[in-house]
Amino acid sequence: MGNSSNDPLFAASPWWRSNRGAHLNIQGGRPLVGTYSVSGAKNAVLPLMISALLTPNLVTLHNVPAILDVAVLSTLLERLGVNISWSDGPNGLSLTMCADRVHPMQLDRTLVTRMRASILLLGVVLARCGEATLPMPGGDDIGLRGIDFHVAGLRAMGATVDLAGGVIHATAPNGLRGADIRLPFPSVGATQNLLLAAVLAKGTTVIRNAAREPENTDLAHCLIMMGAKITGAGSDVLTIQGDNPLTGAVHTVMPDRIELGTIACAAAATDGEIFLRHGRMDLLGTAAPVLISAGVVLQEAAGGVIARRSSSGIVGTDVVTSPYPGFATDLQSPAMALFAIASGASTITETIFEQRFRHVDELRKMGASITVQGRMAWVRGVHRLIGAQVTATDVRAAAALVLAALAADGETVLEGLDHLDRGYDRMAEKLLACGAEMTRSDR
Ligand code: EPU
Repeated sequence: MGNSSNDPLFAASPWWRSNRGAHLNIQGGRPLVGTYSVSGAKNAVLPLMISALLTPNLVTLHNVPAILDVAVLSTLLERLGVNISWSDGPNGLSLTMCADRVHPMQLDRTLVTRMRASILLLGVVLARCGEATLPMPGGDDIGLRGIDFHVAGLRAMGATVDLAGGVIHATAPNGLRGADIRLPFPSVGATQNLLLAAVLAKGTTVIRNAAREPENTDLAHCLIMMGAKITGAGSDVLTIQGDNPLTGAVHTVMPDRIELGTIACAAAATDGEIFLRHGRMDLLGTAAPVLISAGVVLQEAAGGVIARRSSSGIVGTDVVTSPYPGFATDLQSPAMALFAIASGASTITETIFEQRFRHVDELRKMGASITVQGRMAWVRGVHRLIGAQVTATDVRAAAALVLAALAADGETVLEGLDHLDRGYDRMAEKLLACGAEMTRSDR
């Protein structure tokens, strides 16, 4: 373990640990028993960090997950002029950001293309500086992932946006103005981008068909604490009275509902019992009853959720992913790993992203019986999975493969650990504490 002195991420995030081995070797078949602390949510902390660009005052976030995406975003924010300081305390990692000066310079393409959330810099930098230049964002290769809703919304607010040569250039020399915007689909990112921009726009913005994901509600609450006038948080219509003076804020990042659901599935898959500290069942939406009907016992307890396998075992279940409160697409691959060892058959219909079944081939290498046609996968439960050499292709695929490996007989060697590190805070360490057997290595 240790940081290489030339790791560009280390300067912005001194807690970041690179060089921890290219592979995860997992010995499966051990029941997971113990306490697993659910970290702050990846998809909440990223927009929350970006919200610091709205104000010259200090924004402090607690319960920040120690993940690669946070390290990448910290580096991007520093390059925009944000001063960042870190502390590590009993409530986990905290960061304080000061954006008293923001330089709307063109950002490093290699950093921007490492994650999708970098698109959220567009609205806020544009609103703050009157212009923004951003390479096209990257992120997981799970579908087309257009930015047309983001661009159309900013144009409705008076921006001029040009897309040429893989670069987005947006200008609004006289500032943005409020607008009435209806999103064609409740896009999580477009809702966040327009919400952030609307806070600095002159006049009232209404975002209709807004995404209701809890991460968006968490962002709205932090913005309200900063002095933004927002009504409708948690609903599909957000009304933002822009251009109010903003203070700073101190905010605790909400717990990660995807990590909660994933580790609950791991407890059931290995026939163990895990107390998911800080886990909140209400954040799972309809994924909670679906997982329960599949044989994952979820029991609310003081300060968290207890998860184990039901006495009737894991049973095949049908899942359709949809926007919140529907079954989260980010839980689709972990659920598939669980259904791979269910009694009976399951179907999974992925309605959010076009290409989110890339983990199927890897699960098949472990003995899973899965057929895919278009956006639907049929999973026929098998008695057991068998360890194999597999590669993670996106964040949630990585988690699904860890889950499958924990339940499988024998050893699994998982490659593509950057994907796991992008979204899960010390997952291997936390699983080790629950009795898992795994090591990171270069072989
Ligand atoms: N879409 C467009 N045009 C747009 C925006 C979205 O066509 O301008 C489409 C997308 O291609 C997709 C659908 O709308 O088919 C939904 O995309 P959305 O904008 O809601 O997703 P996102 O903001 O890119 C976030 C999360 C994803 C999560 C989705 C859905 C972050 C950083 N990412 O992505 O998380 O799956 O919402 O809940 O918050 C992950 O964590 O592994 C992950 C991929």
